[in-house]
Amino acid sequence: MPAAPLRLGLAGLGTVGIGVVKIVQSHADLITARTGRPVQITAISARDRSKNRDADLSGYAWETDPVALAQRDDVDIFVEVMGGHEGAAKQATEAAIASGKDVVTANKALLAHHGHELALAAESAGRVIRFEAAVAGGIPVIKALTEGLAANQMRRVMGVMNGSCNYILTRMQNEGLSYEAVFEEARQLGYLEADPNLDVGGIDAGHKLSLLAAIAFGTKVNFDAVELEGIGAISIDDITLAADMGYRIKLLGVAQLSGRGLEQRMTPCLVPADSPLGQLQGGTNMVVLEGDSVGQIVLRGPGAGMGPTASAVMADVLDIARGLRLSTFGQPASTLATAQPAKTATPASYYLRMTLLDKPGALAKIATCLGEAGVSIDQMRQYGHQGVNAPVLIVTHKATRDDIDHAVARFAATGVLVGAPVALRIEEV
Ligand code: NAP
Ligand code: HSE
Repeated sequence: MPAAPLRLGLAGLGTVGIGVVKIVQSHADLITARTGRPVQITAISARDRSKNRDADLSGYAWETDPVALAQRDDVDIFVEVMGGHEGAAKQATEAAIASGKDVVTANKALLAHHGHELALAAESAGRVIRFEAAVAGGIPVIKALTEGLAANQMRRVMGVMNGSCNYILTRMQNEGLSYEAVFEEARQLGYLEADPNLDVGGIDAGHKLSLLAAIAFGTKVNFDAVELEGIGAISIDDITLAADMGYRIKLLGVAQLSGRGLEQRMTPCLVPADSPLGQLQGGTNMVVLEGDSVGQIVLRGPGAGMGPTASAVMADVLDIARGLRLSTFGQPASTLATAQPAKTATPASYYLRMTLLDKPGALAKIATCLGEAGVSIDQMRQYGHQGVNAPVLIVTHKATRDDIDHAVARFAATGVLVGAPVALRIEEV
């Protein structure tokens, strides 16, 4: 007797949702062959029923309210691809768990803010929440961490996890364009979220990093503890100067657990131009996973878009169809530790760019501030004088972020600084 179909309730019919419809419809035989049971969509929900969605949705029941969709008797898995960390996505996910449904979601914001409570609720209800699509789109990084690297003590997790930022930075680099010009281009091409600060402010990538850190280190997801800095202050001068020194600028996420606690930061950093991260172009994502036994693994691929993201959603659906029921963050949520948030303490060289008044003793004053904060200068140069102003680049020997921040805080009192300095970590990758 053929196995009973696995029935999906699909909330959200945008880029990801329609991608899911297309895979379910076009790959039905393949999915049945691989899981041993058919996967069907029974009901769908979106805001606007009349919208043309370039897909045949006629066979599916329509629900105006995603909560009602999540509670339907003919739904086994609630697939949440609406977005947003409050409102409909949260209410419907909670309703699905309470109604005994498994959940597959692409929603990193929801899990970064409420992942721990949702995981606890799912586990006490005997349900699973899977979220492969939420981090780095089509790259199977959750699977890699949760399954392939499960026997490793993870050392460090890092990566470029926001395609829009990498697009902006690499286009500035390749075309010599200003941040403002490329930001506008990306906006017009539809590469940016409706609220672009989610991308360029590092928030979207910070959500993803906090989810990876929870799995890698067995800790409760803590997005609020991620040090966040966006790319809005990066100028074409920074890109060019970094390139002259053999570096590229990336919005890089790094998470590591030390004796001091859990460091999580999503900040623009310099990385060697010839490293895999340095060579990453356009909207592509890259995640680097370092474990005690395996060493370093580098995963690269599309971080967004209909096909890649739906591929990841459906991978989770197929796991459930096969009977694979993993804990949300790789171990029971009740056993996840509360990590002490730690500000990055690993020393690194820093790139400092600033504009000074071009007058005697100006550089000496800045050098004194650095010296008094315990920061040693490795390289220093003035470039491209602009009237009474002198742009200055300093590369430090290894220092902690605290020491750099103390030095930079003293710069203002020198009376020679014009505007705000840029301080970027030079990451060893
Ligand atoms: P989208 O294109 O904006 O689609 C969102 C869908 O959700 C739309 O169909 C919308 O309905 C529906 N929706 C929104 N609020 C709703 C509500 N209150 N009730 C019912 N339906 C509602 O978004 P998307 O790009 O597919 O992203 C969906 C999720 O996947 C987000 O969490 C996003 O962060 C995540 N994600 C997206 C990508 C990507 O490449 N796009 C990659 C990774 C993760 P209408 O169509 O009627 O407006
Ligand atoms: N805005 C995100 C990005 C979409 O640019 O990577 C995928 O999460």
